[in-house]
Amino acid sequence: MTRNKVTVIGAGNVGATTAQRIAEAGLADVVLVDIVEGLPQGKGLDLAEAAPVVGHDARVTGTNDYADTAGSDIVVVTSGIARKPGMSRDELMATNAGIVRAVVEQAAKHSPQAILIIVTNPLDAMCHVALQASGFPRERVLGMAGVLDSARFRTFIARELGVSVEDTHAFVLGGHGDTMVPSTKYTTVAGIPVEDLIPRDRLAQILERTAKGGAEIVSLLKTGSAYYAPSAAAVQMCESIVLDKKMILPCAVLSSGKYDGCDGLFVGLPAKLGADGVEEVVKFKLAANEAEALKRSAAAVKELCEAVDRLGF
Ligand SMILES: NC(=O)c1ccc[n+]([C@@H]2O[C@H](COP(=O)([O-])OP(=O)(O)OC[C@H]3O[C@@H](n4cnc5c(N)ncnc54)[C@H](O)[C@@H]3O)[C@@H](O)[C@H]2O)c1
Repeated sequence: MTRNKVTVIGAGNVGATTAQRIAEAGLADVVLVDIVEGLPQGKGLDLAEAAPVVGHDARVTGTNDYADTAGSDIVVVTSGIARKPGMSRDELMATNAGIVRAVVEQAAKHSPQAILIIVTNPLDAMCHVALQASGFPRERVLGMAGVLDSARFRTFIARELGVSVEDTHAFVLGGHGDTMVPSTKYTTVAGIPVEDLIPRDRLAQILERTAKGGAEIVSLLKTGSAYYAPSAAAVQMCESIVLDKKMILPCAVLSSGKYDGCDGLFVGLPAKLGADGVEEVVKFKLAANEAEALKRSAAAVKELCEAVDRLGF
């Protein structure tokens, strides 16, 4: 029996931290890929040399050659440029669409059975590009955003109430941008709806901070964007797939039939992740205002996808 193999494309902040977390959790062997010569090899070797101290046997290697990624079970795509202060995620589109198309074509050729987890922004449009570039079925193309956005929401709720983050559960749905939809109906603390615990106006402030959570970090860092929480979120998705845990996580998935206004689009929805990828899109009965907000968010995703199609990606 061989260990699972995960390829992480992009050996920058998100990619290298994702590789580290996967290896240290002993989830899989990791192949780190980048366009810059020496960068993935150097980080791969450095991560491998940490293994005796950390105590794991996952093999971590770095390469510029996609032949080394052959037979991967999962491919995590983090390659591309990140936001600078004042930039929206959408402004990354033209550059990152070209990068995502190129890397996904290569990765899909060498790992035709892999499950793709897209991280590069603008997330929902990059999933759309990856689906086309790979030719994979919808079950095997998904995007990371909702786990991260929900983790931010959970962090702020736990701090507000002075409770463990582990007691907070949240679902942030919709597109990964200003129109994201934190579903307060399905956000609970030890099973109690958050709406019963935090006054409405204070909750509105927390929701606002969640929606702007990425920009808050970009403006603090000055160069680069968040990567500790994004990598943790991507690894939780990998874990559910590698261990066939069937966790229900908010992920960008190609929607069909279950949520009004979302069909044919990659939108953040509750998805059951297991060995086959997206095994089910779970239907939540959203509050009327949340269902409307989800439709608006899907419309924004549609505009982005049409724009990326017009650019010829
Ligand atoms: N979905 C999310 O919630 C989320 C969260 C954080 C970051 N992101 C996105 O993830 C992406 C990466 O962020 P980062 O902070 O790691 O950036 P980074 O600049 O640290 O790393 C990006 C890496 O991609 C590499 N790269 C560029 N073109 C490539 C190509 N053609 N082939 C292979 N590698 C290539 C670069 O050399 C670089 O090492 C950005 O688009 C960022 O916006 C998304």
